[in-house]
Amino acid sequence: MLRFIFYLHLLLCVNSAGGSAPYTPTDYILLDCGASSSSWNTQAEDGRKWFTDERSKFAASNSESASFASTASRQDHSVTQVPYMTARVFRDQFTYSFPVSPGLKFLRFYFYPVQYSSFDGTTSFFSVTANNHLLLNNFSASLTLSVEDGQPASLIKEFMVPCFETEKLNVSFSPSPNTWAFVNGIELVSMPKNMYVNHQENSLTLVGYKVPFDIPDATAFETVFRLNVGGKTVGNVDDTGMFRTWLDDSDYIFGGAVGNTPSRGKNVTIKYSEDTPAYIAPAIIYTTSRTMVVDPEINMNFNLTWNFSVDAGFTYLLRLHFCETQLEVTEEGQRVFDIFINNQTAEHSADVIHWSGGNSIPVYRDYALIVPTEAQSKQTLWLALHPSKDVGSKFADAILNGLEIFRLSKSDGSLAVPNPQPEPAPSPTLPSVGRKKKKTSVSPVMVITITVFSALLALCLIICFLIYKRKVKRVKDSAVSVQKSSWGQLPCPSNSTCATSVSLLPSDLCRRFSIIELKEATLNFDDQFIIGSGGFGNVYRGRIDGGSTTVAIKRLDSSSRQGFREFQTELELLSKLRHVNLVSLIGFCDDHGEMILVYEYMHRGTLRDHLYKTKNPPLPWKRRLEICIGAARGLQYLHAGVKHPIIHRDIKSTNILLDENWVAKVSDFGLSRLGPLFQSHVTTVVKGSVGYVDPEYYRRQQLTEKSDVYSFGVVLFEVLCARQSMIPGLPKDQVNLARWARICYARGTLENIVDPNLMGDISPLCLQKFGALAESCVRDEGTARPMMNDVVWGLEFALQVQEATQRDMDMDTGGDEATVMSSSQTSSLVSKGAAGGGTTTSTEDDNEELFSVSGGKVSESRSTISSVGRSDGDRIKSESVFSEFKNDNGR
Ligand SMILES: *[C@@H]1O[C@H](CO)[C@@H](O)[C@H](O)[C@H]1NC(C)=O
Ligand SMILES: *[C@@H]1O[C@H](CO)[C@@H](O)[C@H](O)[C@H]1NC(C)=O
Ligand SMILES: *[C@@H]1O[C@H](CO)[C@@H](O)[C@H](O)[C@H]1NC(C)=O
Ligand SMILES: *[C@@H]1O[C@H](CO)[C@@H](O)[C@H](O)[C@H]1NC(C)=O
Ligand SMILES: *[C@@H]1O[C@H](CO)[C@@H](O)[C@H](O)[C@H]1NC(C)=O
Ligand SMILES: *[C@@H]1O[C@H](CO)[C@@H](O)[C@H](O)[C@H]1NC(C)=O
Repeated sequence: MLRFIFYLHLLLCVNSAGGSAPYTPTDYILLDCGASSSSWNTQAEDGRKWFTDERSKFAASNSESASFASTASRQDHSVTQVPYMTARVFRDQFTYSFPVSPGLKFLRFYFYPVQYSSFDGTTSFFSVTANNHLLLNNFSASLTLSVEDGQPASLIKEFMVPCFETEKLNVSFSPSPNTWAFVNGIELVSMPKNMYVNHQENSLTLVGYKVPFDIPDATAFETVFRLNVGGKTVGNVDDTGMFRTWLDDSDYIFGGAVGNTPSRGKNVTIKYSEDTPAYIAPAIIYTTSRTMVVDPEINMNFNLTWNFSVDAGFTYLLRLHFCETQLEVTEEGQRVFDIFINNQTAEHSADVIHWSGGNSIPVYRDYALIVPTEAQSKQTLWLALHPSKDVGSKFADAILNGLEIFRLSKSDGSLAVPNPQPEPAPSPTLPSVGRKKKKTSVSPVMVITITVFSALLALCLIICFLIYKRKVKRVKDSAVSVQKSSWGQLPCPSNSTCATSVSLLPSDLCRRFSIIELKEATLNFDDQFIIGSGGFGNVYRGRIDGGSTTVAIKRLDSSSRQGFREFQTELELLSKLRHVNLVSLIGFCDDHGEMILVYEYMHRGTLRDHLYKTKNPPLPWKRRLEICIGAARGLQYLHAGVKHPIIHRDIKSTNILLDENWVAKVSDFGLSRLGPLFQSHVTTVVKGSVGYVDPEYYRRQQLTEKSDVYSFGVVLFEVLCARQSMIPGLPKDQVNLARWARICYARGTLENIVDPNLMGDISPLCLQKFGALAESCVRDEGTARPMMNDVVWGLEFALQVQEATQRDMDMDTGGDEATVMSSSQTSSLVSKGAAGGGTTTSTEDDNEELFSVSGGKVSESRSTISSVGRSDGDRIKSESVFSEFKNDNGR
């Protein structure tokens, strides 16, 4: 199995490397140091062929005894055979001399500091020079790695070395006293002229001095960061021919304000230009980006900020890559922003379209920054973007697609920096190209083992916990006095044991946060992180667990303690509800009378954000149907899947949220069900929800599940027509969407009010089914409306109709590809609503068993859905395993 994957992986990479890259290096040397010349396998997993340095023509007249080859005594999962498993060890100074053409060259060193046969790589200190540049001084690969996140096993150092007046690049390794030096691999790649250093006038600004800056030819560089902003890591064989690696930028975003990563760009063709030729960066860099959030008001109040740990006492070169790929931004003045580097204005009123000349045309800008010597050798480099204030831009927003940061050699030619202090406490990271890899790359066997094991562990814990909880509850119930702020009925058994149970339990169950944790997550509930608000208080976006997890934090107005009991009851209820189509509650905080709920964060925001009054592209019909099915399932679960039916009361398109896989999740359930605190929430929000309220409920003041069905029907029409549920200024019949849609339906003119973006997308039969279903939901009499069960099945049927039509269309137009697609579509007909993948589906199953599901019929039919869904999910999972491997190139 493992071998098969590697084999396949190899094929994939060979193919991708075999493609015609925009640049073909004139100098290209790959040395697998210490490899035996008889070794047959010098092809690395990324498909590149390496050559041994044994008796190499590159080894300059060194004495035979100066070096020897050695083999690593173990192979970490993240470490590839070539070039890491063999090393050349130097007892004395040793020089490789490479013939080169004039220009700047990439020089990459590969180090794997472990125990070797007859040599200990972990205790090795050495210096490396390239011509007259000191690149590394008394360098320890082991110490450098020890302070990195995730404890990677190997590292790559990338330099750019000038070779202008010579035809040789001499690279020398010199061991520090009493140790030996070593290296596993050396890579030398040329680059196009003027790639990073361009002596044209004013091409580079010195930040803070407003003067042009010229980089002398004799300068050497070390790459300290190279990021694919808003996208995934891009491996070296996917680069433009220079084998650069571009890492995901998410680890470097400061605070919780991560902004947006619009997906629209993925399908555009990047139009390279004379100013930005195709070799500058691969198209994937320009197609992904990070922008700010959708709301201009929020954007004006925060900076999109990255922070980096850098060495003081050097000049840095920052290259920022930009490209507008969103359809909405096509003209100058639409997205204008300021660029701050280290809190100084590097660029005022940056306008990508102005620079590039149009949508999808990439452009880059270079800035030089002096980071002066300070007491601390490590400093933080800040990069921040903010919408320009004085321009009155149409979209208050900013964008960045890619980022490269280089450290420039000092005037004596040196790039050397001290080794990091090997302190046990977590210290600032010293990132280098390729550090992210080690964190993510795990063998598939490991993945499976860990998954199975943790699933079992989680199950055991849940069962033990439920038993325990039942006992606790019984004890509590018998006690007469109920402490005011006791959380005895919550999943955390008691205050004192809570902390330990938190660390043991998977986040499936409710977790208790301290107020300090949540203040850290939101920079003390800073307004810039507010993503929503209502009568109950504000909702913030925040990052917990050291920034690794983004969550939504709902802080209920704590001024009235009246609602505290309701809050507790509510929480007990919420913590038991688990469904793939409900936004899950992660935890809560009750410190100092706070009432805070922590939910999973939904990356794509609300359904309404994708329907109208939005910058988001219109959704295709099939996706809309899938979203409706998901939301309907969530509601069905609330109504029929739990012991006591829960009426949501506030179903609307802004309470249906979407995760990154477009799985729809109902939010705000239960909160409006009980007690005066949450009642007030309903009344204050009535204005916003007015188009959704069941007229029968108005008349009779009686709340039933059918009220939710009515509101859901309104949502269905919103999805179909992409308009608000209530538009006051219109002619009387048209003001209320539900009423207007019913009139149109009765007249047989429903297609006239369908969202124009859906023209040709939605099949007539599907429209008929969908229209009939939605109409039945918004009937005046509750008894004439269907149950949520029926709504789910009706929607699933509509989806089948739609897919069948699409299949027919594909057959008519299509070649092989269409046929293949349609057969996979059939197999997952009903499961698409759960497109989130296998893991979510299976949690849902577990919970259905644990949290008493009613209705044999429902759960039976559900389980067939789940089983189809699961096989679909497995496919997704194995694909992601593959892609992890694919990303692993050359590490
Ligand atoms: C090299 O670095 C190590 C650890 O930082 C230090 O103990 C040693 O003295 C250094 N050697 C030289 C020659 O600077
Ligand atoms: C590189 O090494 C060769 C052989 O040792 C020597 O002839 C040449 O001058 C060196 N070049 C530089 C630039 O140091
Ligand atoms: C991508 O763009 C092409 C051409 O513009 C279009 O035919 C295709 O449908 C698009 N694909 C997606 C997934 O949007
Ligand atoms: C960047 O900011 C984060 C907080 O978001 C902080 O934890 C981290 O240490 C900072 N990194 C550097 C290099 O300053
Ligand atoms: C954004 O960053 C700049 C430079 O550090 C600073 O002057 C400005 O106040 C920041 N703006 C906000 C809203 O934080
Ligand atoms: C620069 O800005 C960052 C965040 O915007 C802030 O944390 C830092 O203290 C500022 N540094 C200086 C020197 O003002």
